Amino acid sequence: MLKDLSPLVSLCKRRGYIFPSSEIYGGLAACWDYGPLGVQFKMNVKQCWWKEMTHRQDIVGLDSSILMHPKVWKASGHVDEFSDPLVDCRDCRFRFRLEEKIKTCPHCGSKNLTEPREFNLMFKTHAGPVEEEASQVYLRPETAQGIYVNFLNVQSSMRKKIPFGIAQIGKAFRNEITVGNFIFRCREFGQMEMQYFVHPEKASEFFEYWKEQRKKFLLDVGLPEKSLRVHEHGKNELAHYAHKAVDFEFLFPMGWKELEGIHHRGDFDLKQHQKWSGKKLSYFDADRGETYLPYVIETSIGLDRLILSLLCSAYREEKVKEETRVLLALNFRLAPIQVAVLPLSKKSQLKELAEKISGSLMKKWRVEQDESGSIGKRYRRQDEIGTPFCVTIDFDSLEDNKVTVRHRDTMRQDRLSVNHLEKYLIDRLST
Ligand code: GAP
Repeated sequence: MLKDLSPLVSLCKRRGYIFPSSEIYGGLAACWDYGPLGVQFKMNVKQCWWKEMTHRQDIVGLDSSILMHPKVWKASGHVDEFSDPLVDCRDCRFRFRLEEKIKTCPHCGSKNLTEPREFNLMFKTHAGPVEEEASQVYLRPETAQGIYVNFLNVQSSMRKKIPFGIAQIGKAFRNEITVGNFIFRCREFGQMEMQYFVHPEKASEFFEYWKEQRKKFLLDVGLPEKSLRVHEHGKNELAHYAHKAVDFEFLFPMGWKELEGIHHRGDFDLKQHQKWSGKKLSYFDADRGETYLPYVIETSIGLDRLILSLLCSAYREEKVKEETRVLLALNFRLAPIQVAVLPLSKKSQLKELAEKISGSLMKKWRVEQDESGSIGKRYRRQDEIGTPFCVTIDFDSLEDNKVTVRHRDTMRQDRLSVNHLEKYLIDRLST
């Protein structure tokens, strides 16, 4: 178990998972770039979520734009409500978000603080060449609103009947006052949200249903049950739109923190958009012979936060013969590289056989062929990036057509015929 994030941050940079944004200019706070392995890992996580959400009859996908009509954010409540109390220290000028526990400056300890003032977290920009109030637009602070404003488009074009859901993966932007803890709280981040539209009488039932489904998903992608807990929001914690809400919290090295929210939003959003747009958003339910505004159950998870929780749970340090072995015990489905093919030397016959084997495995899995450095160093690198299997090709392979498969988690080695390799990997990588 990681005690703090620094070994993970360092591994991510060293091995091409995640780099600080604009690093050669000194970086930009709370912005991160995903390197070659990170972007593949992120893609795998998104695919897993997308498959879970949309490979079913009652949920369809959407990709709405980041810039939306400014009235959307008036209707949603974000212009008036989406703010944090900001305080300045008069002594050291440190600026921070006021929380109940904090009565003195977290930087210098001074009590000489300004009165809190509300700071809206939405990023503003301008559409078109004239920077005036009329052209002001926002970078969306959540993907959910793109779904609500498309409720009727999706429902009618896809002939969906209530209950049904709309899922979306995309970037969201928040001008957070307090940032940090690596990719835990960023100013630009990914969200994976699903809005499930139901008859008002069915909302509580579906709230419980989605709580169950989401827990199953989090366990299925590899988070340990002991690192997950449910926190139910009290009355004073509820967001302005929520009737009821629970968070799945994950035990990060810095403590229990929110990972995913399940929100019972009632008809707040559709009602507001109906009011502000002047367009009817109600639904005629032919089975019930009733017209109504559907209620919404939302599931909302931060993509980068899920990635951080997966990396934290996968990180291991083990003592092997007086040396420390670091590995990422990632779920096989999510690992950016699933099989590494390692010819023992750079000799052309070994390289040729390695290329033949990796070419064939690549049709099914994400494969990397690595020829440089000692075999020990290559194993160490593959362990650190979380590759479940290494296939080593040696001089005997040229004679007996056999290779050695090394397992990431146990370091067990099996010698087997190249003809049996694919079946051997299918049996293990498909579990
Ligand atoms: N549509 C509902 C909504 O946006 P939220 O609780 O504000 O609800 C949902 O955000 C999820 O988005 C959070 O549970 C968290 O995983 C992620 N998230 C929120 N702010 C974030 C930030 N600044 N950086 C990274 N992830 C963030």
